[in-house]
Amino acid sequence: MKEERYFVKENKKINENYFLMKIKAEYISKNSKPGNFVMVNVSETFDPLLKRPFGIFKSEPPFIWLYFEVVGKGTKLLSNFKKNDKISILGPLGNSLPEFKNKKILMIAGGRGIVPIFYSINTYSQHNDIFLVYGAKSGKDLNLYEDIKSKKLKKLFLYTDDGSVGKKGFVTSDVKNIINNNKVDITISCGPEPMFKTLVKKIEHVGTENYISMETIMGCGFGICHSCVKKTKNNNYKQVCTDGPIFKMEDIKW
Ligand SMILES: Cc1cc2nc3c(=O)[nH]c(=O)nc-3n(C[C@H](O)[C@H](O)[C@H](O)COP(=O)(O)OP(=O)(O)OC[C@H]3O[C@@H](n4cnc5c(N)ncnc54)[C@H](O)[C@@H]3O)c2cc1C
Ligand code: FES
Repeated sequence: MKEERYFVKENKKINENYFLMKIKAEYISKNSKPGNFVMVNVSETFDPLLKRPFGIFKSEPPFIWLYFEVVGKGTKLLSNFKKNDKISILGPLGNSLPEFKNKKILMIAGGRGIVPIFYSINTYSQHNDIFLVYGAKSGKDLNLYEDIKSKKLKKLFLYTDDGSVGKKGFVTSDVKNIINNNKVDITISCGPEPMFKTLVKKIEHVGTENYISMETIMGCGFGICHSCVKKTKNNNYKQVCTDGPIFKMEDIKW
């Protein structure tokens, strides 16, 4: 990992709250793997003091893309960045997903959880069969639908809470059937914590190898501040920034 000042190439407003930022980040793009994240300095001043963590959505050297939702002060500041602005980023950080070959992989993405999933699809679809379950509150929140349709997927299952696009329901609704009907070997999921809590109940015992990408509050991103700890099943603690953000689903205490 290293911290460098890069250039914003584009900061595209996707809808009311979502932005896709393209950054010329040679070092990160060449050294990142699916699952890695970065810490972004969202302001040139000391307010806010702390960098903010973001997954890497896409990496094509010399560029990386971040896909972010405006939820508070830091992400609002990030949304104001313009083409050719300098941006200070630390990364790549965290662990990454293992390599897979000749596997049937089910990816499950809730909302902005699509970020590490999108990166993984790009990497894994060359040597594996990819099934994707992607869901959001409403059709207008499935912002990346067109990009996703262009990916090499075996099957795509869409869900919205209000039923405006795809099936009405949560991404977790039919997951067990999808696994059984398609003889899935591995699951990789990212989304809000309630999604994981439901998922673990549904698929813990179906025989798949299950990986998750976790989000927590993060102060430093590299193991110093202990703000990101999660309790494991055997009552130890793991730091999401250095031991994760990728974990085996079964290893976390839910
Ligand atoms: C490894 C990792 C990868 C992430 N990847 C992405 C991504 O690709 N795209 C994206 O939009 N967001 C991502 N996040 C979440 C993102 O870091 C937070 O939304 C952001 O830091 C909020 O900053 P803020 O100043 O705008 O919000 P704040 O004003 O700090 O907080 C606003 C709200 O967001 C919640 N929040 C703050 N930080 C986090 C956090 N780290 N995780 C979850 N909720 C938080 C707060 O509890 C509060 O409810 C990721 C987080 C982690 C840990
Ligand atoms: S964010 Fe500081 S230790 Fe993990």
